[in-house]
Amino acid sequence: MNPADTSDLWWRTAVFYCLDVQTFQDSDGDGSGDFAGLARRIDDLSALGITCLWLMPFQPSPDLDDGYDVADFYSVAPALGDLGRVVETIRIAHDRGIRVVMDLVVNHTSDRHPWFVAARRSKKSRYRDYYVWRDKPPRKAQPTVFPGEEATTWELDERTGQYFLHSFYRHQPDLNLANPEVRAEIARIIGFWLKLGIDGFRVDAVPYLLTTAGAPNEQDPHSFLRELHRFVGRRAGSAMLLGEVALTHEEQLQYFGESAPELDLQFDFVASQTAFLCFARGEAEPLARALAARPQVDVSQGWAMFLRNHDELSLALLTDDERQEVFDAFAPDPDQQVYGRGIIRRLAPMLDGDPRRLRLAYSLLFSLPGAPVLFYGEEIGMGELDTSFVREAVRGPMQWDAGRNGGFSTARASRLTRPLPTGGYGPEHVNVNDQRRDPDSLWMFISELISRYRSTPVIPWGRLKVLDSGDRRVLAHECSSDEVTFLAVHNFSPEPVTVELPGWDAGREITVLLDSSGHTAPDLAAPDEAGRVRLDGYGFRWLKSAPPPTDHD
Ligand code: NOJ
Repeated sequence: MNPADTSDLWWRTAVFYCLDVQTFQDSDGDGSGDFAGLARRIDDLSALGITCLWLMPFQPSPDLDDGYDVADFYSVAPALGDLGRVVETIRIAHDRGIRVVMDLVVNHTSDRHPWFVAARRSKKSRYRDYYVWRDKPPRKAQPTVFPGEEATTWELDERTGQYFLHSFYRHQPDLNLANPEVRAEIARIIGFWLKLGIDGFRVDAVPYLLTTAGAPNEQDPHSFLRELHRFVGRRAGSAMLLGEVALTHEEQLQYFGESAPELDLQFDFVASQTAFLCFARGEAEPLARALAARPQVDVSQGWAMFLRNHDELSLALLTDDERQEVFDAFAPDPDQQVYGRGIIRRLAPMLDGDPRRLRLAYSLLFSLPGAPVLFYGEEIGMGELDTSFVREAVRGPMQWDAGRNGGFSTARASRLTRPLPTGGYGPEHVNVNDQRRDPDSLWMFISELISRYRSTPVIPWGRLKVLDSGDRRVLAHECSSDEVTFLAVHNFSPEPVTVELPGWDAGREITVLLDSSGHTAPDLAAPDEAGRVRLDGYGFRWLKSAPPPTDHD
Protein backbone atom coordinates (compact mmCIF):
# COMPACT_ATOMS: atom_id res chain seq x y z
CA MET A 1 0.00 0.00 0.00
CA ASN A 2 1.23 3.47 -0.79
CA PRO A 3 1.64 5.54 2.42
CA ALA A 4 -0.27 8.28 0.60
CA ASP A 5 -3.37 6.05 0.79
CA THR A 6 -3.23 5.70 4.53
CA SER A 7 -5.63 8.39 5.72
CA ASP A 8 -8.02 5.78 7.15
CA LEU A 9 -5.37 4.01 9.15
CA TRP A 10 -5.86 6.37 12.07
CA TRP A 11 -4.50 3.92 14.64
CA ARG A 12 -1.03 4.09 13.15
CA THR A 13 -0.63 7.70 14.32
CA ALA A 14 -3.00 7.79 17.30
CA VAL A 15 -2.02 8.90 20.78
CA PHE A 16 -3.85 6.50 23.10
CA TYR A 17 -4.91 7.27 26.65
CA CYS A 18 -6.02 4.35 28.80
CA LEU A 19 -8.34 4.96 31.71
CA ASP A 20 -10.70 3.17 34.03
CA VAL A 21 -14.05 5.00 34.22
CA GLN A 22 -14.33 3.82 37.82
CA THR A 23 -11.27 5.78 38.96
CA PHE A 24 -11.33 8.77 36.63
CA GLN A 25 -14.04 11.22 37.74
CA ASP A 26 -17.01 10.78 40.02
CA SER A 27 -19.93 13.04 39.04
CA ASP A 28 -22.48 12.14 41.73
CA GLY A 29 -20.46 11.82 44.92
CA ASP A 30 -20.95 8.09 45.42
CA GLY A 31 -17.20 7.43 45.49
CA SER A 32 -17.03 5.70 42.10
CA GLY A 33 -16.03 7.34 38.85
CA ASP A 34 -18.71 7.28 36.14
CA PHE A 35 -19.39 8.08 32.50
CA ALA A 36 -20.96 11.44 33.35
CA GLY A 37 -17.71 12.36 35.12
CA LEU A 38 -15.58 11.17 32.22
CA ALA A 39 -17.70 13.15 29.77
CA ARG A 40 -16.95 16.29 31.78
CA ARG A 41 -13.23 15.60 31.61
CA ILE A 42 -12.94 15.11 27.89
CA ASP A 43 -11.97 18.72 27.33
CA ASP A 44 -9.04 18.25 29.72
CA LEU A 45 -7.91 15.26 27.69
CA SER A 46 -8.39 17.16 24.49
CA ALA A 47 -6.19 19.96 25.89
CA LEU A 48 -3.47 17.39 26.53
CA GLY A 49 -3.72 16.40 22.87
CA ILE A 50 -4.55 12.69 23.00
CA THR A 51 -6.50 11.31 20.05
CA CYS A 52 -7.96 8.02 21.27
CA LEU A 53 -9.37 6.85 24.59
CA TRP A 54 -8.98 3.24 25.61
CA LEU A 55 -11.64 2.40 28.19
CA MET A 56 -10.86 -0.45 30.54
CA PRO A 57 -13.79 -2.85 31.15
CA PHE A 58 -16.93 -1.03 32.28
CA GLN A 59 -19.54 -3.77 31.99
CA PRO A 60 -21.35 -5.37 34.96
CA SER A 61 -18.92 -7.52 36.85
CA PRO A 62 -18.33 -8.93 40.33
CA ASP A 63 -15.09 -6.95 40.03
CA LEU A 64 -12.85 -9.71 41.26
CA ASP A 65 -10.39 -8.81 38.50
CA ASP A 66 -11.20 -5.10 38.22
CA GLY A 67 -13.82 -5.67 35.55
CA TYR A 68 -11.84 -8.19 33.47
CA ASP A 69 -14.46 -10.65 34.72
CA VAL A 70 -17.49 -9.63 32.69
CA ALA A 71 -20.95 -10.80 33.77
CA ASP A 72 -22.93 -9.11 30.99
CA PHE A 73 -21.37 -8.03 27.70
CA TYR A 74 -24.25 -5.78 26.69
CA SER A 75 -24.58 -3.26 29.49
CA VAL A 76 -22.79 -0.99 31.92
CA ALA A 77 -21.88 -1.50 35.58
CA PRO A 78 -24.66 0.43 37.37
CA ALA A 79 -22.23 2.57 39.40
CA LEU A 80 -20.66 3.82 36.16
CA GLY A 81 -23.84 4.83 34.33
CA ASP A 82 -25.90 3.33 31.56
CA LEU A 83 -25.76 2.90 27.80
CA GLY A 84 -27.15 6.39 27.28
CA ARG A 85 -24.18 7.86 29.14
CA VAL A 86 -21.76 5.71 27.16
CA VAL A 87 -23.15 6.91 23.85
CA GLU A 88 -23.12 10.50 25.06
CA THR A 89 -19.48 10.18 26.14
CA ILE A 90 -18.51 8.68 22.79
CA ARG A 91 -20.28 11.53 21.00
CA ILE A 92 -18.52 14.19 23.09
CA ALA A 93 -15.17 12.54 22.42
CA HIS A 94 -15.87 12.27 18.68
CA ASP A 95 -16.88 15.90 18.67
CA ARG A 96 -13.35 16.77 19.87
CA GLY A 97 -11.74 14.48 17.30
CA ILE A 98 -11.03 11.80 19.91
CA ARG A 99 -11.82 8.18 19.12
CA VAL A 100 -12.89 5.63 21.71
CA VAL A 101 -11.81 2.02 21.94
CA MET A 102 -12.78 -0.43 24.66
CA ASP A 103 -11.48 -3.65 26.14
CA LEU A 104 -12.85 -6.78 24.54
CA VAL A 105 -12.52 -9.47 27.19
CA VAL A 106 -13.72 -12.67 25.57
CA ASN A 107 -11.07 -15.19 26.52
CA HIS A 108 -13.25 -15.84 29.56
CA THR A 109 -16.34 -14.63 31.38
CA SER A 110 -17.02 -14.17 35.04
CA ASP A 111 -18.29 -17.35 36.66
CA ARG A 112 -21.43 -15.30 37.41
CA HIS A 113 -22.16 -14.80 33.72
CA PRO A 114 -25.51 -16.45 32.93
CA TRP A 115 -23.80 -18.67 30.34
CA PHE A 116 -21.53 -20.18 32.96
CA VAL A 117 -24.24 -20.36 35.60
CA ALA A 118 -26.32 -22.40 33.13
CA ALA A 119 -23.33 -24.39 31.88
CA ARG A 120 -22.44 -25.68 35.32
CA ARG A 121 -26.02 -26.56 36.20
CA SER A 122 -25.97 -29.63 33.98
CA LYS A 123 -23.80 -31.37 31.43
CA LYS A 124 -26.79 -31.19 29.15
CA SER A 125 -27.09 -27.40 29.28
CA ARG A 126 -27.01 -25.77 25.86
CA TYR A 127 -24.29 -23.51 27.30
CA ARG A 128 -22.12 -26.40 28.53
CA ASP A 129 -19.97 -26.34 25.41
CA TYR A 130 -19.47 -22.57 25.69
CA TYR A 131 -16.68 -23.49 28.14
CA VAL A 132 -13.87 -26.02 28.16
CA TRP A 133 -14.50 -29.17 30.25
CA ARG A 134 -12.42 -32.27 30.93
CA ASP A 135 -12.99 -35.33 33.10
CA LYS A 136 -9.44 -34.91 34.36
CA PRO A 137 -7.03 -31.99 34.04
CA PRO A 138 -4.52 -32.73 31.26
CA ARG A 139 -1.23 -34.12 32.50
CA LYS A 140 0.62 -31.19 30.95
CA ALA A 141 -1.70 -28.34 31.93
CA GLN A 142 -0.77 -24.81 30.92
CA PRO A 143 0.75 -22.96 33.89
CA THR A 144 -1.29 -20.34 35.71
CA VAL A 145 -0.77 -16.66 34.88
CA PHE A 146 -1.04 -15.78 38.56
CA PRO A 147 1.41 -18.01 40.47
CA GLY A 148 0.96 -17.57 44.19
CA GLU A 149 -2.71 -16.68 43.72
CA GLU A 150 -3.79 -19.71 41.69
CA ALA A 151 -2.23 -23.16 41.78
CA THR A 152 -3.61 -24.62 38.55
CA THR A 153 -5.60 -23.71 35.45
CA TRP A 154 -8.23 -26.42 35.94
CA GLU A 155 -10.92 -26.23 38.58
CA LEU A 156 -13.25 -29.05 39.60
CA ASP A 157 -16.93 -28.25 39.30
CA GLU A 158 -18.31 -30.35 42.17
CA ARG A 159 -21.85 -30.54 40.86
CA THR A 160 -21.09 -32.01 37.45
CA GLY A 161 -17.81 -33.69 38.40
CA GLN A 162 -15.80 -32.21 35.54
CA TYR A 163 -12.94 -29.72 35.45
CA PHE A 164 -13.14 -26.41 33.58
CA LEU A 165 -10.23 -24.43 32.14
CA HIS A 166 -9.40 -21.01 33.55
CA SER A 167 -6.24 -19.47 32.15
CA PHE A 168 -6.57 -16.64 34.68
CA TYR A 169 -8.44 -16.74 38.01
CA ARG A 170 -10.69 -19.69 38.87
CA HIS A 171 -13.66 -17.32 38.74
CA GLN A 172 -12.86 -16.62 35.06
CA PRO A 173 -13.76 -19.77 33.10
CA ASP A 174 -12.29 -19.76 29.58
CA LEU A 175 -14.75 -19.59 26.72
CA ASN A 176 -14.53 -22.35 24.17
CA LEU A 177 -13.61 -20.55 20.96
CA ALA A 178 -13.72 -23.79 19.02
CA ASN A 179 -17.50 -23.64 19.39
CA PRO A 180 -19.03 -21.73 16.45
CA GLU A 181 -21.84 -20.51 18.71
CA VAL A 182 -19.32 -18.81 20.97
CA ARG A 183 -17.73 -17.16 17.94
CA ALA A 184 -21.14 -15.95 16.87
CA GLU A 185 -21.74 -14.52 20.37
CA ILE A 186 -18.42 -12.64 20.16
CA ALA A 187 -19.36 -11.22 16.76
CA ARG A 188 -22.67 -10.02 18.21
CA ILE A 189 -20.88 -8.32 21.11
CA ILE A 190 -18.52 -6.56 18.72
CA GLY A 191 -21.34 -5.57 16.39
CA PHE A 192 -23.31 -4.15 19.30
CA TRP A 193 -20.54 -1.83 20.55
CA LEU A 194 -19.58 -0.75 17.04
CA LYS A 195 -23.17 0.33 16.49
CA LEU A 196 -22.95 2.45 19.64
CA GLY A 197 -19.99 4.29 18.14
CA ILE A 198 -16.97 2.42 19.52
CA ASP A 199 -13.96 2.75 17.18
CA GLY A 200 -12.16 -0.44 18.02
CA PHE A 201 -11.13 -2.91 20.67
CA ARG A 202 -8.17 -3.65 22.85
CA VAL A 203 -8.34 -7.41 22.63
CA ASP A 204 -7.48 -8.98 25.96
CA ALA A 205 -5.16 -11.96 26.32
CA VAL A 206 -4.99 -12.88 22.63
CA PRO A 207 -2.67 -15.92 22.78
CA TYR A 208 -4.89 -17.49 25.47
CA LEU A 209 -7.94 -16.80 23.36
CA LEU A 210 -6.41 -18.78 20.53
CA THR A 211 -5.57 -21.71 22.79
CA THR A 212 -9.20 -22.72 22.92
CA ALA A 213 -9.84 -21.64 19.34
CA GLY A 214 -7.43 -24.40 18.38
CA ALA A 215 -8.94 -27.13 20.49
CA PRO A 216 -9.91 -29.81 19.96
CA ASN A 217 -10.62 -30.07 16.24
CA GLU A 218 -9.60 -26.73 14.77
CA GLN A 219 -6.53 -26.92 12.55
CA ASP A 220 -5.47 -23.31 12.62
CA PRO A 221 -6.49 -21.21 15.64
CA HIS A 222 -5.55 -18.04 13.78
CA SER A 223 -8.53 -18.55 11.51
CA PHE A 224 -10.56 -17.09 14.39
CA LEU A 225 -8.52 -13.86 14.44
CA ARG A 226 -8.72 -13.55 10.67
CA GLU A 227 -12.47 -14.01 10.90
CA LEU A 228 -12.64 -11.37 13.62
CA HIS A 229 -10.67 -8.88 11.57
CA ARG A 230 -12.83 -9.45 8.51
CA PHE A 231 -15.98 -9.07 10.58
CA VAL A 232 -14.85 -5.78 12.15
CA GLY A 233 -13.90 -4.48 8.72
CA ARG A 234 -17.31 -5.40 7.30
CA ARG A 235 -19.23 -3.79 10.15
CA ALA A 236 -17.12 -0.63 10.51
CA GLY A 237 -14.42 -0.09 7.92
CA SER A 238 -12.33 2.20 10.09
CA ALA A 239 -12.50 0.24 13.34
CA MET A 240 -9.40 -1.51 14.57
CA LEU A 241 -8.13 -4.29 16.78
CA LEU A 242 -5.29 -3.60 19.21
CA GLY A 243 -4.05 -6.86 20.66
CA GLU A 244 -2.43 -7.81 23.92
CA VAL A 245 0.18 -10.35 22.83
CA ALA A 246 2.97 -10.36 25.40
CA LEU A 247 5.42 -12.39 23.31
CA THR A 248 8.65 -11.83 21.40
CA HIS A 249 8.58 -9.75 18.22
CA GLU A 250 9.10 -12.86 16.14
CA GLU A 251 6.17 -14.63 17.80
CA GLN A 252 3.99 -11.53 17.44
CA LEU A 253 4.34 -11.65 13.66
CA GLN A 254 1.82 -14.45 13.33
CA TYR A 255 -0.75 -12.35 15.23
CA PHE A 256 -0.47 -9.60 12.63
CA GLY A 257 -1.49 -12.38 10.27
CA GLU A 258 0.44 -14.31 7.69
CA SER A 259 -2.10 -15.07 4.97
CA ALA A 260 -4.58 -12.28 5.85
CA PRO A 261 -4.70 -9.47 8.41
CA GLU A 262 -5.44 -10.31 12.04
CA LEU A 263 -4.53 -7.60 14.59
CA ASP A 264 -3.99 -4.04 13.36
CA LEU A 265 -1.86 -2.97 16.29
CA GLN A 266 0.03 -4.87 18.95
CA PHE A 267 1.63 -3.60 22.11
CA ASP A 268 5.41 -3.71 21.93
CA PHE A 269 6.15 -5.57 25.15
CA VAL A 270 9.74 -6.23 24.11
CA ALA A 271 10.54 -2.53 23.72
CA SER A 272 8.84 -1.68 26.98
CA GLN A 273 10.62 -4.31 29.06
CA THR A 274 13.96 -3.63 27.41
CA ALA A 275 13.56 0.12 28.00
CA PHE A 276 13.34 -0.59 31.74
CA LEU A 277 16.50 -2.65 31.57
CA CYS A 278 18.16 0.35 29.91
CA PHE A 279 16.85 2.77 32.53
CA ALA A 280 18.21 0.46 35.22
CA ARG A 281 21.64 0.16 33.58
CA GLY A 282 22.03 3.70 32.34
CA GLU A 283 22.77 2.15 28.95
CA ALA A 284 20.89 2.17 25.67
CA GLU A 285 22.49 -0.82 24.05
CA PRO A 286 19.84 -3.53 24.82
CA LEU A 287 17.07 -1.35 23.40
CA ALA A 288 19.17 -0.45 20.36
CA ARG A 289 19.60 -4.18 19.71
CA ALA A 290 15.91 -4.99 20.23
CA LEU A 291 14.72 -2.20 17.97
CA ALA A 292 17.21 -2.99 15.24
CA ALA A 293 15.85 -6.56 15.18
CA ARG A 294 12.17 -5.56 15.33
CA PRO A 295 10.49 -7.03 12.26
CA GLN A 296 8.96 -4.88 9.58
CA VAL A 297 5.17 -5.15 9.42
CA ASP A 298 2.65 -4.18 6.78
CA VAL A 299 2.06 -0.44 6.41
CA SER A 300 -1.52 -0.86 7.63
CA GLN A 301 -0.30 -2.38 10.89
CA GLY A 302 1.89 -1.18 13.70
CA TRP A 303 3.13 -1.20 17.24
CA ALA A 304 1.57 0.40 20.27
CA MET A 305 4.36 1.78 22.43
CA PHE A 306 4.00 2.06 26.18
CA LEU A 307 6.04 2.30 29.33
CA ARG A 308 3.52 1.46 32.03
CA ASN A 309 0.01 0.09 31.87
CA HIS A 310 -2.65 -0.97 34.34
CA ASP A 311 -1.00 -4.34 35.02
CA GLU A 312 2.25 -5.19 36.72
CA LEU A 313 5.30 -4.14 34.72
CA SER A 314 5.98 -7.64 33.49
CA LEU A 315 9.63 -8.47 32.84
CA ALA A 316 8.89 -11.97 31.60
CA LEU A 317 10.66 -11.43 28.28
CA LEU A 318 13.99 -10.56 29.92
CA THR A 319 16.51 -13.14 31.11
CA ASP A 320 16.57 -14.01 34.83
CA ASP A 321 19.68 -11.87 35.38
CA GLU A 322 18.26 -8.92 33.47
CA ARG A 323 14.97 -9.14 35.38
CA GLN A 324 16.93 -9.14 38.65
CA GLU A 325 18.77 -5.99 37.55
CA VAL A 326 15.46 -4.22 36.98
CA PHE A 327 14.07 -5.49 40.30
CA ASP A 328 17.21 -4.27 42.11
CA ALA A 329 16.93 -0.83 40.53
CA PHE A 330 13.19 -0.21 40.73
CA ALA A 331 11.55 -2.71 43.08
CA PRO A 332 14.11 -3.68 45.71
CA ASP A 333 11.36 -4.47 48.22
CA PRO A 334 9.93 -7.93 47.42
CA ASP A 335 6.45 -6.54 48.17
CA GLN A 336 6.84 -4.35 45.09
CA GLN A 337 7.20 -7.49 42.95
CA VAL A 338 4.54 -9.98 41.87
CA TYR A 339 4.34 -13.40 40.24
CA GLY A 340 8.15 -13.57 40.13
CA ARG A 341 8.07 -11.48 36.97
CA GLY A 342 6.64 -8.01 37.53
CA ILE A 343 6.63 -4.72 39.38
CA ILE A 344 3.50 -3.10 40.82
CA ARG A 345 4.70 0.48 40.67
CA ARG A 346 4.10 3.53 38.55
CA LEU A 347 6.91 5.10 36.55
CA ALA A 348 7.39 8.38 38.47
CA PRO A 349 8.26 6.80 41.83
CA MET A 350 10.36 4.16 40.07
CA LEU A 351 12.48 6.98 38.68
CA ASP A 352 12.52 8.77 42.06
CA GLY A 353 10.40 11.53 40.57
CA ASP A 354 13.54 12.82 38.82
CA PRO A 355 12.26 15.17 36.09
CA ARG A 356 15.30 14.54 33.89
CA ARG A 357 14.74 10.78 33.88
CA LEU A 358 10.98 11.09 33.45
CA ARG A 359 11.40 13.39 30.49
CA LEU A 360 13.97 11.07 28.95
CA ALA A 361 11.54 8.16 29.31
CA TYR A 362 8.60 9.98 27.73
CA SER A 363 10.73 11.57 25.01
CA LEU A 364 11.79 8.04 24.11
CA LEU A 365 8.18 6.81 24.12
CA PHE A 366 7.02 9.47 21.67
CA SER A 367 10.06 9.24 19.41
CA LEU A 368 9.86 5.51 18.68
CA PRO A 369 7.88 4.47 15.63
CA GLY A 370 4.50 3.29 16.79
CA ALA A 371 1.43 4.71 18.48
CA PRO A 372 2.21 5.94 22.00
CA VAL A 373 -0.09 4.76 24.79
CA LEU A 374 -0.35 6.66 28.08
CA PHE A 375 -1.91 5.22 31.22
CA TYR A 376 -4.02 7.83 33.05
CA GLY A 377 -2.04 9.88 35.54
CA GLU A 378 1.27 9.36 33.76
CA GLU A 379 1.00 12.88 32.36
CA ILE A 380 1.36 14.30 35.87
CA GLY A 381 3.69 11.66 37.31
CA MET A 382 1.20 10.01 39.67
CA GLY A 383 2.50 7.57 42.28
CA GLU A 384 1.17 4.19 43.36
CA LEU A 385 -0.85 3.00 46.36
CA ASP A 386 0.25 0.68 49.08
CA THR A 387 1.61 -2.65 47.81
CA SER A 388 -1.25 -4.46 49.59
CA PHE A 389 -3.38 -3.42 46.58
CA VAL A 390 -1.12 -5.65 44.44
CA ARG A 391 -1.82 -4.95 40.74
CA GLU A 392 -4.40 -2.35 41.68
CA ALA A 393 -1.71 -0.27 43.40
CA VAL A 394 -1.26 1.59 40.09
CA ARG A 395 -5.00 2.12 39.62
CA GLY A 396 -5.67 4.85 42.19
CA PRO A 397 -8.13 7.71 41.55
CA MET A 398 -7.11 10.38 39.06
CA GLN A 399 -5.67 13.46 40.75
CA TRP A 400 -7.28 16.56 39.28
CA ASP A 401 -6.60 19.18 41.92
CA ALA A 402 -5.22 19.77 45.39
CA GLY A 403 -8.66 19.70 47.03
CA ARG A 404 -10.75 16.99 48.64
CA ASN A 405 -10.00 13.54 47.21
CA GLY A 406 -7.83 15.20 44.58
CA GLY A 407 -10.96 16.51 42.83
CA PHE A 408 -11.89 12.93 41.92
CA SER A 409 -14.98 12.73 44.13
CA THR A 410 -16.86 14.66 46.80
CA ALA A 411 -17.63 11.45 48.70
CA ARG A 412 -16.28 10.70 52.14
CA ALA A 413 -12.77 9.26 51.69
CA SER A 414 -13.91 5.94 53.16
CA ARG A 415 -16.45 5.55 50.32
CA LEU A 416 -13.93 5.83 47.47
CA THR A 417 -13.39 2.74 45.32
CA ARG A 418 -9.70 3.10 46.11
CA PRO A 419 -7.83 5.61 48.28
CA LEU A 420 -5.48 8.32 47.05
CA PRO A 421 -1.79 8.13 47.80
CA THR A 422 -0.47 10.20 50.68
CA GLY A 423 2.88 11.95 51.07
CA GLY A 424 4.89 13.37 48.19
CA TYR A 425 2.65 11.77 45.53
CA GLY A 426 -0.59 12.90 47.16
CA PRO A 427 -2.90 15.22 45.24
CA GLU A 428 -1.68 18.32 47.09
CA HIS A 429 1.67 17.83 45.33
CA VAL A 430 0.70 16.03 42.13
CA ASN A 431 -2.40 17.18 40.27
CA VAL A 432 -3.56 18.31 36.85
CA ASN A 433 -4.74 21.77 37.88
CA ASP A 434 -1.41 22.94 39.24
CA GLN A 435 0.56 21.39 36.41
CA ARG A 436 -1.54 23.04 33.72
CA ARG A 437 -0.48 26.39 35.16
CA ASP A 438 3.20 25.54 35.51
CA PRO A 439 5.26 25.88 32.31
CA ASP A 440 7.90 23.50 33.72
CA SER A 441 5.51 20.71 34.68
CA LEU A 442 5.42 17.16 33.36
CA TRP A 443 1.87 17.77 32.02
CA MET A 444 3.20 20.65 29.91
CA PHE A 445 6.09 18.54 28.69
CA ILE A 446 3.83 15.62 27.73
CA SER A 447 1.47 17.96 25.90
CA GLU A 448 4.46 19.35 24.01
CA LEU A 449 5.60 15.83 23.15
CA ILE A 450 2.13 14.96 21.88
CA SER A 451 2.00 18.02 19.70
CA ARG A 452 5.53 17.39 18.32
CA TYR A 453 4.63 13.76 17.66
CA ARG A 454 1.41 14.70 15.89
CA SER A 455 3.16 17.26 13.71
CA THR A 456 5.98 14.83 12.81
CA PRO A 457 4.18 12.05 10.95
CA VAL A 458 7.45 10.55 9.81
CA ILE A 459 7.87 9.15 13.36
CA PRO A 460 5.03 6.62 13.07
CA TRP A 461 5.19 6.21 9.29
CA GLY A 462 8.93 6.29 8.59
CA ARG A 463 11.45 3.50 8.17
CA LEU A 464 13.21 2.84 11.45
CA LYS A 465 17.00 2.71 11.48
CA VAL A 466 19.04 2.38 14.64
CA LEU A 467 22.35 4.22 14.19
CA ASP A 468 25.62 3.24 15.75
CA SER A 469 26.02 6.05 18.25
CA GLY A 470 29.49 4.85 19.17
CA ASP A 471 28.48 5.01 22.83
CA ARG A 472 26.59 2.27 24.71
CA ARG A 473 24.83 4.90 26.76
CA VAL A 474 23.22 6.62 23.80
CA LEU A 475 20.35 5.50 21.57
CA ALA A 476 20.33 7.23 18.19
CA HIS A 477 17.51 6.27 15.85
CA GLU A 478 16.12 7.62 12.61
CA CYS A 479 12.66 7.41 11.08
CA SER A 480 12.75 8.37 7.44
CA SER A 481 10.60 8.78 4.40
CA ASP A 482 11.75 9.81 0.93
CA GLU A 483 11.26 13.46 1.86
CA VAL A 484 12.35 13.79 5.43
CA THR A 485 14.43 12.15 8.13
CA PHE A 486 13.75 12.36 11.85
CA LEU A 487 16.55 11.67 14.30
CA ALA A 488 16.30 11.23 18.04
CA VAL A 489 19.24 10.87 20.41
CA HIS A 490 18.76 9.79 24.02
CA ASN A 491 21.43 9.60 26.69
CA PHE A 492 20.40 6.98 29.27
CA SER A 493 23.25 7.82 31.64
CA PRO A 494 23.66 10.58 34.23
CA GLU A 495 26.93 11.73 32.62
CA PRO A 496 27.09 14.29 29.80
CA VAL A 497 28.12 12.71 26.50
CA THR A 498 29.15 13.80 23.03
CA VAL A 499 28.29 11.55 20.11
CA GLU A 500 29.12 11.78 16.46
CA LEU A 501 26.25 11.25 14.07
CA PRO A 502 27.42 10.29 10.62
CA GLY A 503 25.56 12.24 7.96
CA TRP A 504 24.15 14.80 10.40
CA ASP A 505 26.76 17.47 9.78
CA ALA A 506 26.38 21.10 8.89
CA GLY A 507 25.85 20.25 5.19
CA ARG A 508 22.22 19.44 5.95
CA GLU A 509 19.33 21.71 6.64
CA ILE A 510 18.40 20.74 10.18
CA THR A 511 15.49 21.73 12.40
CA VAL A 512 15.68 21.13 16.12
CA LEU A 513 12.26 19.87 17.23
CA LEU A 514 12.91 19.20 20.88
CA ASP A 515 15.80 19.40 23.29
CA SER A 516 16.12 18.42 26.94
CA SER A 517 17.84 21.68 27.80
CA GLY A 518 14.91 23.61 26.36
CA HIS A 519 17.00 25.19 23.58
CA THR A 520 15.80 24.67 20.08
CA ALA A 521 17.81 27.44 18.42
CA PRO A 522 19.91 25.71 15.73
CA ASP A 523 23.15 27.40 16.85
CA LEU A 524 22.71 25.93 20.34
CA ALA A 525 21.25 22.51 19.66
CA ALA A 526 21.97 21.40 16.09
CA PRO A 527 24.99 19.14 15.47
CA ASP A 528 28.26 20.96 14.80
CA GLU A 529 30.10 20.90 11.47
CA ALA A 530 31.48 17.43 12.27
CA GLY A 531 28.02 16.07 13.11
CA ARG A 532 28.73 16.02 16.85
CA VAL A 533 25.97 16.40 19.41
CA ARG A 534 26.53 17.04 23.08
CA LEU A 535 23.88 15.87 25.53
CA ASP A 536 23.55 16.51 29.25
CA GLY A 537 23.11 13.59 31.63
CA TYR A 538 19.72 12.01 30.72
CA GLY A 539 19.60 14.50 27.84
CA PHE A 540 17.83 14.01 24.51
CA ARG A 541 17.29 15.82 21.26
CA TRP A 542 14.93 15.48 18.30
CA LEU A 543 16.13 16.70 14.89
CA LYS A 544 14.57 16.74 11.46
CA SER A 545 16.22 17.21 8.13
CA ALA A 546 15.60 17.13 4.44
CA PRO A 547 17.53 14.25 2.82
CA PRO A 548 21.14 14.94 1.85
CA PRO A 549 21.48 16.19 -1.73
CA THR A 550 21.84 13.41 -4.29
CA ASP A 551 23.63 13.38 -7.65
CA HIS A 552 20.35 14.27 -9.33
CA ASP A 553 19.87 17.55 -7.41
C1 NOJ B 1 -4.99 -8.95 30.83
C2 NOJ B 1 -5.44 -7.75 31.59
O1 NOJ B 1 -4.61 -6.66 31.25
C3 NOJ B 1 -5.37 -8.10 33.07
O2 NOJ B 1 -5.57 -6.98 33.88
C4 NOJ B 1 -6.37 -9.19 33.35
O3 NOJ B 1 -6.22 -9.63 34.69
C5 NOJ B 1 -6.15 -10.39 32.43
N1 NOJ B 1 -5.93 -10.03 31.06
C6 NOJ B 1 -7.36 -11.29 32.46
O4 NOJ B 1 -8.41 -10.69 31.77
